[in-house]
Amino acid sequence: MQNDLLIRAARGESVERTPVWMMRQAGRYLPEYRAIRQDTDFLTLCKTPELAVEVSLQPYRILGVDAVIMFSDILIPVEAMGQEVKLTEQKGPELPDPIRSRQQIDQLIVPDPIQKTGFVMEIIRTLRRELNGAVPLIGFAGAPWTLAAYMIEGGGSKNYAQVKRLMYTEPRTFHHLLDKIADTVILYLNAQIEAGAQVIQLFDSWAGELSPKDYAEFALPYEQKIFASINRSVPSIIYINGSGTFLEQMAGCGADVLSIDWRVNLEDARARVGPKLTLQGNLDPCVLLSTPEIIAAKARDLIRAGGGHRHILNLGHGILPMTPVENARAFVDAALNPDA
Ligand code: CP3
Repeated sequence: MQNDLLIRAARGESVERTPVWMMRQAGRYLPEYRAIRQDTDFLTLCKTPELAVEVSLQPYRILGVDAVIMFSDILIPVEAMGQEVKLTEQKGPELPDPIRSRQQIDQLIVPDPIQKTGFVMEIIRTLRRELNGAVPLIGFAGAPWTLAAYMIEGGGSKNYAQVKRLMYTEPRTFHHLLDKIADTVILYLNAQIEAGAQVIQLFDSWAGELSPKDYAEFALPYEQKIFASINRSVPSIIYINGSGTFLEQMAGCGADVLSIDWRVNLEDARARVGPKLTLQGNLDPCVLLSTPEIIAAKARDLIRAGGGHRHILNLGHGILPMTPVENARAFVDAALNPDA
């Protein structure tokens, strides 16, 4: 591989400079992405390898990031399990038939990833061919708690009332659903690694909505099961938004890299998790709405805070659609040219 900085940083090996990529780097802030989306709805884009490969490569070609993440969505395996998923322009993900009963859980299947989501593996194989070793390719999945939240709420949520109602009143039923999702995710991630994914990121984006005790019961064990069951020849990353209340617990999930949001200082996160894990993050994505000069200064501060070892520069959550491309470029350039 020509540029394996991200892999080396994830493994704790020495690097010449801090690697950089951005969560949601393939997306609406890029005019080139919007041009493709103009004639193609989101789920069709996810299921058309030729187009998905093109949009995956856009941030690499335009900004020169140190990794490519395959273009897809965490809800793709949910659809494969048998629950209908829609993505609407205004409201984001919509699952019109939310799960509210044990019977609905029993009807969900643990899909064969090749049979039901073969297009994802095709995207990965094609990206590996196109990249030809230039930078590592990241595959990903949603974690059980976060996927269960979408499946039960029927979409995004403010307070997670429906999913938590089931969690507190029928914990065994809820665990049954989480188990089924975990089995699905394990098969799905191993198929991605088999197809050529060189790094895996697990998104437990909304686990930060849980108390530390509930995180320990309803999210952490499934993250652990997934990291214990996937092929360990590739490094792994976990992302949780709002993990500051239970960073020490998160550190025990089995991932090589903890991707953290901006509510925790990078130095404090390091002190709390110790020297043996890599940290990814953690600039507030709203900083990218300021000016290139401000962004460059704050990115350099973060690179310094990371100490040039076991740190991957990234945002604390996905890049916002209204981000100017030149601002995204200023963020990436701060890592690519640390001495500028
Ligand atoms: O990172 C990348 O560039 C790869 C692609 C990627 C998408 N979604 C594309 C997408 C990844 C890794 C995801 C993960 C994802 N999807 C997460 C975890 C990351 C996080 O942000 O916490 C979550 C929670 C989802 C669910 C989801 N999908 C939401 C909430 C939305 C709507 C919000 C939004 O940004 O519009 C989506 C749709 C979605 N997924 C879009 C993209 C580019 C926008 C769809 C469009 O083009 O209109």
